[in-house]
Amino acid sequence: MRVSDLTPPPGVRAVLYRFTAGQRRWFLAALLMLIVEATASVFQVYPIGYLIDFLEGKRPPLWFAWIASPQYRTVALLTTAIIAFAAVRSLGDSLAEIYLARGGRRLGYAMRVTLYSHLQQLSLAFHNRRRTGDMLRRVTSDIEQVEAFIIASLSDIAGSVLILIGTLAFLFFHSWQVMVLAVVVVPVLSLIATYFSQRITATARLQRAREADLTSAAQELLTSIPVVKAFGQSDYEQQRFEEGSQKAMAAALDSAGLEARFSWVFHVLEAVCISAVVWLGIWLVARNAFSVGTLVLFIMLIQNMFKPTRKLIKQWATIGKVRASVERVTEVLARRPSVHDTPWAEEAAAFRGELELRHVSFTYQLDPEDAASATPGDSEARPALDDVSFRVRPGEVVALVGPSGAGKSTIAQLVPRLYDPQVGEVRIDGRNIRDFTLDSLRRQISLVLQDTILFRGSVAHNIGYGRAGATRDEIVAAAVRANAHEFIERMPDGYDTELGERATNLSGGERQRIAIARALVRDAPILVLDEPTTGLDAESSHLVLQGLHELMKGRTTIIISHDLHLIQKADRIVVIRQGRIEQTGGHAELLREGGLYASLHARRFGESGEQPAMVDLGAAPEGRWMPATHGRVKRTKHGWDRR
Ligand SMILES: Nc1ncnc2c1ncn2[C@@H]1O[C@H](COP(=O)(O)OP(=O)(O)OP(=O)(O)O)[C@@H](O)[C@H]1O
Ligand SMILES: [Mg+2]
Repeated sequence: MRVSDLTPPPGVRAVLYRFTAGQRRWFLAALLMLIVEATASVFQVYPIGYLIDFLEGKRPPLWFAWIASPQYRTVALLTTAIIAFAAVRSLGDSLAEIYLARGGRRLGYAMRVTLYSHLQQLSLAFHNRRRTGDMLRRVTSDIEQVEAFIIASLSDIAGSVLILIGTLAFLFFHSWQVMVLAVVVVPVLSLIATYFSQRITATARLQRAREADLTSAAQELLTSIPVVKAFGQSDYEQQRFEEGSQKAMAAALDSAGLEARFSWVFHVLEAVCISAVVWLGIWLVARNAFSVGTLVLFIMLIQNMFKPTRKLIKQWATIGKVRASVERVTEVLARRPSVHDTPWAEEAAAFRGELELRHVSFTYQLDPEDAASATPGDSEARPALDDVSFRVRPGEVVALVGPSGAGKSTIAQLVPRLYDPQVGEVRIDGRNIRDFTLDSLRRQISLVLQDTILFRGSVAHNIGYGRAGATRDEIVAAAVRANAHEFIERMPDGYDTELGERATNLSGGERQRIAIARALVRDAPILVLDEPTTGLDAESSHLVLQGLHELMKGRTTIIISHDLHLIQKADRIVVIRQGRIEQTGGHAELLREGGLYASLHARRFGESGEQPAMVDLGAAPEGRWMPATHGRVKRTKHGWDRR
């Protein structure tokens, strides 16, 4: 099968073929070894048949010079042959295994790395629709399945087929009657095998599904343990888990029972077949068609045939599973990233920082591949942005405000091209950002989100993540400016303190300041801040604001916030409702103008009748400047429209 870049959904075989590139010599070597093994194992029984005939005086002695008695000579030669065949057979087996392990592991490596890099390129529209666990399984266990199949099962399958062919050929040359008998058994066997393997596969599938349920249940519990404990739902969760376990156990027992029954039927059939050969053989011996030695030889050969057949039947179910795994991997690999470098994209020079949205309309859409399988409800998306235009001059700070769901975060995501707008352009320094390569564009943009994502690893690693190759001095300098240095120094190992998963050992404000330090290290000319202070209390919000103030100096900034202190600091405010720009202007100007901004403002501060104090972000003494309402307002994420 030839692989071509033009065939969009590559088949299972094509994918496997593509990933064996460079490893094929290992598979060829393994095949050769398997042929050696099969030949040796067919001929291994031959000396025994000869020996029996020789002892009966029906065969001539064999020559073996340095042993005295002709009888011992012959026996010695035959036993040596038995040993030699066994040695060659086992050597072939071992070598085939080694070669397959090499080929299989490398194939697995290539698949895993390719899939991983492909997953990183795929759009958010793709990832948002997938369960993380599902993707995780594809990168890990699905590829493991393929690997294990090549290493463990492939040699079984190819080896068994070769032994069967060899044995039948051997029988054919010695006695066609026995071969016919052996061939007649095959359809009977395959009928029985099909009957059982269908049932075994079905129960195995059920078992795997049940086990997957269990894993997700356990994962869910472990990630939400604070909620489970706080709501006193431990018993309920325990009971759910026990029920799940019981179902998984029942499924496992079912499939074990089926396999046992199959094994019994198979062995009985094997015995029946051997008995038939005995009867046929005795009849042929009586007619002097062949010797007792040959009869014994045939019985052993038939026995030898059943073992590989059994292996083959057993592997049949595995083939189905591996096929499914390869398909799951293929499905992801066949996806084209919806956001990708345009053919004419070029490396962006250092940005001056002029940012413009020109008649941008955007609707969250499914990837075309997902759209086919979507439920009707999915496709009725209304536009998140509708003809949005505004410009930010280099170094200017623009605040985006508006009710929840207005489309503010959507704008933030368009700037680093996490999504591409369907209509209109996002422009930087007067050029459409699609003219730049994704790498060079994103390198010059810092994004700070409300939920800071920190990685497992040291604090220094997390800050240095902003720019590859950042030195320790730069990291510390950034932490100082981000107002994070002090608390980092107080941590047990300072900058080398390991953060736990999801950095649960840090407070929200501390996490945010690390994110700011990361953005400072990045030193990008364009900055996008999406609700950087939401959810923080007055004290830590103040610390974060100081860090932000440092960060925003001299950078083109888009800041999305419900925090009036931040908004008032902006050079310009853009008010958005339902995906459209409603007002633009300075704080005082917009208040005077009336409309959405004034009403949002009044709703927040009207109740208490208090005006927020203007704050100097840089020099304010800690904690003193916050108006009384501040903490209350910030506690609701979308306070402006909820109240
Ligand atoms: N990944 C997504 N897929 C589909 N629709 C989305 C997605 N993200 C947001 N939306 C929709 O797009 C619209 C704008 O959302 P957006 O997140 O930009 O609002 P926002 O102004 O940031 O609101 P908030 O203040 O609550 O953060 C909303 O109607 C929302 O339901
Ligand atoms: Mg938002």
